[in-house]
Amino acid sequence: MLVLPAVLASLALLAVAEPILTARELLNAPALTLHLHRRLRSQERREAARLAEDTADVGQGGQLAFTSQKPSQEYPALVFDQLVSHDSRYPPPYVNATFRQRYWFDASHYKPGGPVILLDSGETDGANRIPFLRQGILRILGEATGGIGIVLEHRYYGESFPVQNLSTDSLRFLDTLQSLHDSAHFARTIKLPGLGHLNLTAGQHTPWLYYGGSYAGAKAAFARSLFPDVFWGAIASSAVTTAIVDFWQYYEPIRQSASADCMDRLVENTALIDSLLALNSSFLSPKLKGYFGLPNVTSDADFVNALALPLGSWQSRNWDPAVGSKRFDAFCDALTNSTSVRPPTVPFLSTLPPAALEQLVLPKDPRKTLESFSTYAAYVKEHIVPLCPPDESQDACFGTDEYGGDDLDEYEWKSWAYQFCTEWGYFIGAAPKGTPSLVSRLLTPEYTGKICKRAFPPGELIRVPDSPNITAINQWGSFDLSYPRLAFVDGSEDPWLYATPHSPTALNPHRKDTLRKPFKLIKGGVHHWDENGLAPGRTEPPEIAEIHAAEIEFVQSWMREWHARGKWRWSIGGADNEGKVAGRWD
Ligand SMILES: *[C@@H]1O[C@H](CO)[C@@H](O)[C@H](O)[C@H]1NC(C)=O
Ligand SMILES: *[C@@H]1O[C@H](CO)[C@@H](O)[C@H](O)[C@H]1NC(C)=O
Ligand SMILES: *[C@@H]1O[C@H](CO)[C@@H](O)[C@H](O)[C@H]1NC(C)=O
Ligand SMILES: *[C@@H]1O[C@H](CO)[C@@H](O)[C@H](O)[C@H]1NC(C)=O
Ligand SMILES: *[C@@H]1O[C@H](CO)[C@@H](O)[C@H](O)[C@H]1NC(C)=O
Ligand SMILES: *[C@@H]1O[C@H](CO)[C@@H](O)[C@H](O)[C@H]1NC(C)=O
Ligand SMILES: *[C@@H]1O[C@H](CO)[C@@H](O)[C@H](O)[C@H]1NC(C)=O
Repeated sequence: MLVLPAVLASLALLAVAEPILTARELLNAPALTLHLHRRLRSQERREAARLAEDTADVGQGGQLAFTSQKPSQEYPALVFDQLVSHDSRYPPPYVNATFRQRYWFDASHYKPGGPVILLDSGETDGANRIPFLRQGILRILGEATGGIGIVLEHRYYGESFPVQNLSTDSLRFLDTLQSLHDSAHFARTIKLPGLGHLNLTAGQHTPWLYYGGSYAGAKAAFARSLFPDVFWGAIASSAVTTAIVDFWQYYEPIRQSASADCMDRLVENTALIDSLLALNSSFLSPKLKGYFGLPNVTSDADFVNALALPLGSWQSRNWDPAVGSKRFDAFCDALTNSTSVRPPTVPFLSTLPPAALEQLVLPKDPRKTLESFSTYAAYVKEHIVPLCPPDESQDACFGTDEYGGDDLDEYEWKSWAYQFCTEWGYFIGAAPKGTPSLVSRLLTPEYTGKICKRAFPPGELIRVPDSPNITAINQWGSFDLSYPRLAFVDGSEDPWLYATPHSPTALNPHRKDTLRKPFKLIKGGVHHWDENGLAPGRTEPPEIAEIHAAEIEFVQSWMREWHARGKWRWSIGGADNEGKVAGRWD
């Protein structure tokens, strides 16, 4: 769902003409078109491999300093023997069984007394987070505090698997709490190679700070509140602390922040398309689909799901052009293009009988809408339709019925699908009646949730619930989660805003922002915009420089608190607990 695979995405972007969507963005579509996802993913891998062999070209210009070296050379992957299960309900194959959990670290900024800053790489390949060690948030905070940065890969992602395959039963060790325990166990017991002389034991000798963005941001927040003696502080960026089944609000920040003209056009076109499909005419529907270049997509819902694909690129916008995507702008430019001089022709509409016309949701300004109807169709024809190669059927490419595959390699879509089907929900789709919708009303949770049944047939040991058990997540505080030394950083234009504590639907989206409980909204920011940074010597845009400076300030104040607490503890010589400390320092 959530995050930018900065390295792969940007590698792919630089190399070829910008593809209209990345494999990652397809995961943000209402329903996953798995076949297309696999195709794009293998294209991107080939492209990345080609580039890795050819790095000299990319290093030029300094734009993408982090691609000029193979990540694995600068930061070799290390492995930690992690417990397969921390939960007695799911016993491991043998007592204390472990698996190899990958991590990477950088101690080059370390100064005695400095913290360990753990970055949770969430539902992605941890190797994609290495840029944050080199020039992102881990470097920024590491330099400011004399800290050690660590990227820890999540179980069931990248190369950190406690099982041999991804059958339903094999997924039984995958849940949010298990992975939170992973982080705590890691922090309590890790011995970093070459640093054996330091005692980095969390909470006792060294303060550990937890950073995460998106799902990992929620984990950072939960880790701080569930393991306060392990994690001294946490930065929860774009933290989706509230699990929601019908997450139609994904599109609200887009609708409210993107160009109004573009959004109005899209809303009107979507309503028109819905009313055309509602006629359920065996004559008209194929004509409509054909007009968009998708004549052979059998299911109406799959058709409108394909029309929603360009919206997946909103989340990939970033303040750093080397990391972000401009595809959303290109989509809106196309939709609002009024340079065409000829009046738009939508031939099949003129063939409609008057009775049918009466049932259509006709726009306020038909000329404008019809104009954008034809440019929308042209855009889909030009950019979405060709994602499907001529030798494959459109149903294979845009269909949403087939979710087979148990190999570990399937984790890129399957592990997170399992997590949202069991605990998180986040089925994205149409707005409720009465609210303008960027996507078709056919995109309901029933349609987008089909994947849960199809990808995860009941196992012998476990079965996926009929509806995700969001209580498993929301019991930890949801919108109202608050804790000392827990910072929330969000973006006002983040499609995930409505799942964060800054959600307009939260009880108090305007909490007081203090050093102890920072509560920051990056104006115009999208998805965890504080996580990436620039190579030394380059200047960040003001809103990013500002959030990074604020993060340095509050983390340094947490460090002063740690050191003061050490002296206090020392002077009275007794054990304490977080409750007392919080009482004393609040
Ligand atoms: C499993 O680990 C626990 C905690 O480290 C230890 O007390 C126990 O002896 C171990 N059991 C076995 C069978 O190794
Ligand atoms: C998956 O792995 C389990 C044990 O790890 C094994 O029993 C099962 O047969 C495997 N399933 C498939 C479909 O390969
Ligand atoms: C670090 O300190 C803790 C608590 O004093 C102790 O239990 C642990 O063995 C020490 N670890 C190392 C590597 O010295
Ligand atoms: C649409 O028409 C088909 C037959 O052409 C029919 O089977 C189906 O039930 C109709 N759907 C709706 C929603 O009316
Ligand atoms: C749609 O299907 C028809 C008949 O099988 C085929 O001739 C045509 O090429 C297909 N069009 C597309 C765009 O896939
Ligand atoms: C706008 O339309 C004109 C004329 O059809 C076309 O040449 C131009 O490329 C379009 N611009 C965009 C951004 O699609
Ligand atoms: C949902 O999760 C909560 C919290 O973990 C648990 O108490 C409850 O039993 C779960 N509900 C179902 C239906 O499994």
